Amino acid sequence: MRKITSSFDYQEFASSMELPPEDRLLLDQARAATSTAHAPYSRYHVGAAVKLANGKLFTGSNQENMSFPAGLCAERVAVYTATAAFPDSPVASLAISARSDAFPVTEPVPPCGMCRQSVVEYEIKFGNKIRIILAGESGKVFVVNGMSTLLPLTFLEKGLQKSK
Ligand code: THU
Repeated sequence: MRKITSSFDYQEFASSMELPPEDRLLLDQARAATSTAHAPYSRYHVGAAVKLANGKLFTGSNQENMSFPAGLCAERVAVYTATAAFPDSPVASLAISARSDAFPVTEPVPPCGMCRQSVVEYEIKFGNKIRIILAGESGKVFVVNGMSTLLPLTFLEKGLQKSK
């Protein structure tokens, strides 16, 4: 038996005002995208913004459904919209934010596990790390280098990849 320790580094900024301009712009887009959420059940409006390596920006928001599990998170709406539009352009960065009708969201909003797995797929597809920018509607901002960083022991079965 051998004990293995896994840890990761990420950056914390006191507010979005401290971010590099490109990150701040993407986060502004994610925050704006919260207004497009369809969230009548949770009243928790999540916005995501994706920047592709070709410079194109896409946004998404959570889309809930009366049949609750049929809903989709903001991150997957944004990333799938972007990757469907430009399947050959790597995903460069992803910003996520949220606001609630019930309480202030002042802590960074990390993606759920299913979104982590979904986004790692594109890091594997293109062989690059995606810059992840996490924020609430206000307050501190986290920047993480790579979605795989947030998903240690990612499900990764090379045998399932298409043969080349
Ligand atoms: N949600 C997201 O959009 N992204 C996440 O990473 C976590 C949760 C949405 C799903 C649901 O519409 C609402 O937030 C409350 O869970």
